[in-house]
Amino acid sequence: NQKCFIFDLDGVIVDTAKYHYLAWQKIAHQLGIEFTPEHNEELKGVSRVRSLDLILALGNMEASQEDKNKWLVQKNEDYLSYLVNMDESEILPGVLPVLTYLKENKQKIVLGSASKNAKPILEKAKIIDYFDAIVDGNDVSNAKPDPEVFIQGAKKVNFPNERCIVFEDSVAGIQAANIAGMISVGIGEETILHEAQFVFPDFTHIDLNFIQNLIHK
Ligand code: BG6
Ligand code: MG
Repeated sequence: NQKCFIFDLDGVIVDTAKYHYLAWQKIAHQLGIEFTPEHNEELKGVSRVRSLDLILALGNMEASQEDKNKWLVQKNEDYLSYLVNMDESEILPGVLPVLTYLKENKQKIVLGSASKNAKPILEKAKIIDYFDAIVDGNDVSNAKPDPEVFIQGAKKVNFPNERCIVFEDSVAGIQAANIAGMISVGIGEETILHEAQFVFPDFTHIDLNFIQNLIHK
């Protein structure tokens, strides 16, 4: 029995969603746009370019491509400044036992992230070797909720979508997994991630029996 376990990165494997939020909040405030944690839910899983468009739309603002490019660079520089000293302490609780269990049981482990910073982050967290395949923001042209990122991931390890399980903290990512016909597991709040087939507050709440059942399903 073998399945393909696809993990989102930010907010699932590592605690970086908070840094994306802080960096976007800075841009929004600079533009005089109110940007709350609720607004931020809509940005989770969404590409950098689309995220900025959503913020501008919040403020009913239009901007030149030049300005947008400037803010996109600023956002990424600011985001990366939070990660300068990043190490394995940013790995979210309960993640390593699950990755280890999957490896020991010879399951496929794939990354499916919208981020263009995915690989350096996995390296800093010292977990890149767990992954059989990585698909990130540099590989896809259609952002979540389009299922492209997960479908590419499944293809890379030669698994049909029905034998894939996706772990996601974003609404867009859960929708992408569902559209692809994969099992969707939400990591976060049930009220927000109600479209997921299963939801857990975090990986410490995921029993290894649950993983084993998914493997044998
Ligand atoms: C996703 C995050 O994983 O990656 C989003 O949830 C982020 O918040 C997106 O905007 C793109 O990331 P990056 O690192 O390429 O700006
Ligand atoms: Mg995420």
